[in-house]
Amino acid sequence: MRFVVTGGLGHIGSRLIRYLPQRFKGAEIVIIDNMATQRYPSLFDLPDEGRYRFVEADATTVALEPLFEGADAVVNLAAITDAAGSFANREKVERENYGITERVALACVAVGAPLITASSTSVYGTQKSRVDEDCEASDLAPQSPYAETKLREEALVAELAAGRGLKATIFRYGTIFGVSPGMRFHTAVNKFCWQAVLGQKLTVWRTAYDQMRPYLDLSDAVEAIAFAVEKKMFDARVYNVVTSNHTVRDVVEAIRARVPSTEVTFVDERIMNQLSYEVDNTRMLAAGFQFKGSLQTGLAETIARLRNMNGGAA
Ligand SMILES: NC(=O)c1ccc[n+]([C@@H]2O[C@H](COP(=O)([O-])OP(=O)(O)OC[C@H]3O[C@@H](n4cnc5c(N)ncnc54)[C@H](O)[C@@H]3O)[C@@H](O)[C@H]2O)c1
Repeated sequence: MRFVVTGGLGHIGSRLIRYLPQRFKGAEIVIIDNMATQRYPSLFDLPDEGRYRFVEADATTVALEPLFEGADAVVNLAAITDAAGSFANREKVERENYGITERVALACVAVGAPLITASSTSVYGTQKSRVDEDCEASDLAPQSPYAETKLREEALVAELAAGRGLKATIFRYGTIFGVSPGMRFHTAVNKFCWQAVLGQKLTVWRTAYDQMRPYLDLSDAVEAIAFAVEKKMFDARVYNVVTSNHTVRDVVEAIRARVPSTEVTFVDERIMNQLSYEVDNTRMLAAGFQFKGSLQTGLAETIARLRNMNGGAA
């Protein structure tokens, strides 16, 4: 099997590139990353089971078609991924993220390679308590330039599937938690683990404490990609990929169970809103996918990695 992973050194990609050869023996994996986030350790000690080729290049300019030729799947993870920060660099996020997906999708059309592209559950914004992929247009209310762009990228992929024969899967990922070689600590769960171990107060968005939101264990995120390839799930539909829904209070309590000194402080962020909703994962379940991750396990693994960072506080 031959795979291409754009943004393959990132939080999700660095785990995926190690997972694919476990699932597909002898897999050949082309990794494209522009090093924008300097995740050099993602390339350390890649397993011998995989046949890797790293291409240091920008997905907005590199010639993609020769790299995609013969691919069993192209997994598009390259993006500027800081949603809260996207208010400050709206134009750059819109131009680059949309531009990457457009170029990647068009190159897939040109060589006939199937595409799996990462969208986000942050495209939702609803007064309903639970929302699924068949929701009303009014339930799609992105709360940041990053999420607005994700919705436009989804529409483009659907259009190319309908009009140009693109084979594609669109995954709306929940907020990721869990350990990877190229992991980040700026999204909720990982950031809270970091702060708790360091003895800092957890910086919770003022409105968010009791709001339900969708989360995704990294192990489920990478298995969903392998599953889509195996099942040839390239029907151009959107799938919510969500392990479980939680309030921030749930997350804080789960951390406090491991780091009893954990305290919270409330902060204001422009991305905050009054909405509380769960994201339904029934479509993935109906396709036969089993979510196996758990918030408790993911937290425990993350905290364990950091255990000696602060005098054994964890
Ligand atoms: N982490 C999450 O909680 C989450 C949730 C929902 C969706 N997603 C989506 O999943 C995808 C991967 O997310 P992640 O958490 O691994 O992000 P990440 O920021 O850790 O990784 C993104 C990678 O893309 C690379 N990159 C950025 N611009 C590039 C370009 N122009 N050309 C080549 N490489 C480029 C970066 O160097 C980085 O290694 C993104 O599309 C993201 O929006 C992530």
